[in-house]
Amino acid sequence: MRMVDLIATKRDGGELPTADIKAMVEGFTNGDVPDYQMSAMSMAIFYQGMSDREIADLTMAMVESGDVIDLSRIHGKKVDKHSTGGVGDKISLIVAPLVASIGIPVAKMSGRGLGHTGGTIDKLEAFPGFDVELSEEAFVNQVNDIKMAIIGQTGNLTPADKKLYALRDVTATVNSIPLIASSIMSKKIAAGADSIVLDVKTGSGAFMKSFEDAKALATEMVSIGKSVNRKTIAVITDMDQPLGNEIGNANEVKEAIEVLQGKDVRDLKVIALTIASHMAVLGEFYPTFDEAYADLETRLANGAALDVFKKFIAAQGGDASLVDDMSKALETKYQKDFVASKAGYVSEIIADEVGVAAMILGAGRATKTDVIDHAASVTLLKKVGDRVEVGDVIATLRSNKETLDQAIEKMDHAYHISETKPEARPLVHAVID
Ligand code: URA
Repeated sequence: MRMVDLIATKRDGGELPTADIKAMVEGFTNGDVPDYQMSAMSMAIFYQGMSDREIADLTMAMVESGDVIDLSRIHGKKVDKHSTGGVGDKISLIVAPLVASIGIPVAKMSGRGLGHTGGTIDKLEAFPGFDVELSEEAFVNQVNDIKMAIIGQTGNLTPADKKLYALRDVTATVNSIPLIASSIMSKKIAAGADSIVLDVKTGSGAFMKSFEDAKALATEMVSIGKSVNRKTIAVITDMDQPLGNEIGNANEVKEAIEVLQGKDVRDLKVIALTIASHMAVLGEFYPTFDEAYADLETRLANGAALDVFKKFIAAQGGDASLVDDMSKALETKYQKDFVASKAGYVSEIIADEVGVAAMILGAGRATKTDVIDHAASVTLLKKVGDRVEVGDVIATLRSNKETLDQAIEKMDHAYHISETKPEARPLVHAVID
């Protein structure tokens, strides 16, 4: 293989053979293929795309570039979930204990947040003492014991993806469906689950702003999963405004706990039940989605999953007493309300802007090395469709930094008020299987 010939083939719209994709990824991982050639290849893929076969080959080459987690010692069908990310997305914190409560093992690896979207691992670290770095043995034992564990990504999982993603980030080639699909699916496949449910977000706060792009990404990821014998379903869900009412780390955990206690936070509840029901069907616990949804809804209402959540926090060394009362974890030095300066209906909340406001307060990282303040938060009291009068509190912002005014400015950009009530968007746009 001469890398320059492969770049030329892709530049001119040709297909790369399986063996060459494998050799290219191996060479890139061990340093034989330099960054400048891989950058040129990424740009050629960006413009020319890839066939389903090439995308599956690229995915598997990235899986094989590092460790593959062996979950075979975990009893039962392992079902994983992945979200393409958004603002206020605490769905994993609800879905994992809910699915585990019926006995389906959830052995999950999650990421940290960068920028304005949070990561599940950051949220869990709101519990003092919570350990995200279990050994493989402790991870497997915990899942067999209490049916769930969530840890950070291990050091040598898909190193090719790690290197390629960093390169894409600085060469304007992140936004390519073949590259995103293979990046996400390589990590999911290497993490070892038998089946995967993908929560692909669409709307102003999502990576894929338009439904068409979200559908194309979802379709590609489902196709990759199937080509490597992982049962895979994608649910396209709404991220046109933040999910739920809480944005931040400790307060997102608090809101997830409230849903696990039976509180009906509509968008969170519907999306969590939809994802959990697909997981439970793939895990072969229920024969149909409708049966799964009805039963899991009852389990949410009666608090059955909360017990699993508490055991999970305690098993990983976290202070589980906070599950009964999160107030200690939410205290901040400063607090300020964002109030309505005009009357009308909330017609739009640009989720990204709310995410940036939370980041300014300390809830997110602008750079990888930034330290998160788990108590920094935005609580939304008004969502799209709600009526507001002049002076009504729209949101409450909390921080330990003196950045509240800067964050309020972002909230002002985020909220649009109009005279007419907007039409509600669906929470679940489509299911791709
Ligand atoms: N998330 C990933 O893991 N990879 C991408 O390429 C984009 C988003």
